[in-house]
Amino acid sequence: MPFSAESYFQTQTPPTTLQHDTDAVREFVQRQTRDGKKIVLVTSGGTTVPLELNVVRYLDNFSAGTRGATSAEYFLSAGYAVIFMHRQFSLQPFSRHYSHSTNPFLDFLEVEPPSPSDPDAVPRISVIKENREFLLRVLAAYRDAHSKGTLLTLTFVTINDYLFLLRAVSEQMASLGRRSMYYLAAAVSDFFLPTQRLSEHKIQSGKGSLQIEMDQVPKILKPLVSEWTREGFVVSFKLETDPKLLIPKARMALERYGHHVVIGNDLARRKFEVLFVSRVPRTVIDAGQSPTGPPIDSTIIEPVTDAPPTQSGADYTETWLILEEKDRNSVEIEEGIVDRLVKMHDAWIEAGPRIP
Ligand code: PMT
Repeated sequence: MPFSAESYFQTQTPPTTLQHDTDAVREFVQRQTRDGKKIVLVTSGGTTVPLELNVVRYLDNFSAGTRGATSAEYFLSAGYAVIFMHRQFSLQPFSRHYSHSTNPFLDFLEVEPPSPSDPDAVPRISVIKENREFLLRVLAAYRDAHSKGTLLTLTFVTINDYLFLLRAVSEQMASLGRRSMYYLAAAVSDFFLPTQRLSEHKIQSGKGSLQIEMDQVPKILKPLVSEWTREGFVVSFKLETDPKLLIPKARMALERYGHHVVIGNDLARRKFEVLFVSRVPRTVIDAGQSPTGPPIDSTIIEPVTDAPPTQSGADYTETWLILEEKDRNSVEIEEGIVDRLVKMHDAWIEAGPRIP
């Protein structure tokens, strides 16, 4: 029998940090509610599946955390409070600009030699001139989030941590009703080994080949949408490597789980091209237009034309968001994604129960 979400939570062991994290989220939600903030939960990075209880080996899911960390910054600048639930050591908002291997921190710095006229002077470290403006902007946004307390960071490693934490966070956010958004960018394992079948110690290699039968991870979007947070605005991601599958799989996800938006991305093109499939009608999206977002000439929003009608005949808004070639090194596509979602979310809040 495959695990349902219910049987999963009944039989698997919650992480030891769950109560502590739940308390932090409760306090955060209460404070942001008092301040009249909308809250977005951003999940980011990949989950692991341990193969042993005393874990030496594990399976991992691909994700550096770029999508989540970058989007979290744009949500903060759009006025949201952000719960950033990420894989330990994956990219984080703000520090992503200088801690990644492509952007080493030390490369931002230079040493100014001491003045020869002052025998007691020591060398000074400063930021290289051409990086100052950029780092000042990052620093200002970072300080702003910290002084206002609008960013709460939570950590997961395993699929088990992720599932228990996601349920706990969404239950705490349920009180926000329509003012909550779920931006599920984490790359979540599809298969796992239940604790009861895990080898206690390191699997020995003496027997030659290794055969492991894994169980399917319950599809967590279903209870998220229908039980844990009935009124939240839920955005999921669909990652594919075969471009032909992207449109049908994104539609299928929306039909299956009944949430609000699926963002489809092809692994090789995800940094400059994404597909929006949404249940929010076009008229409602257009009504919520705002003047923010990347310069209008840096993104192309194109209706999807190369796909047959949906199987259910449901009326979806389907568009591509594509960065122009000339902007691909200077504009982050997450700015456009977040801008569009904020408009949809606002319009959807405004529309009220008329649009479920
Ligand atoms: O971090 P980067 O390197 O920038 O990469 C970003 C990304 C490509 C990982 C990201 O944009 C992305 O596509 N994330 C979702 C990848 C994924 O796991 O897709 P999926 O088909 O397995 O899951 C689809 C959705 O269902 C996801 O929103 C996931 O959170 C959710 N899910 C998945 C499995 C499961 N058991 N329960 C779920 O709720």
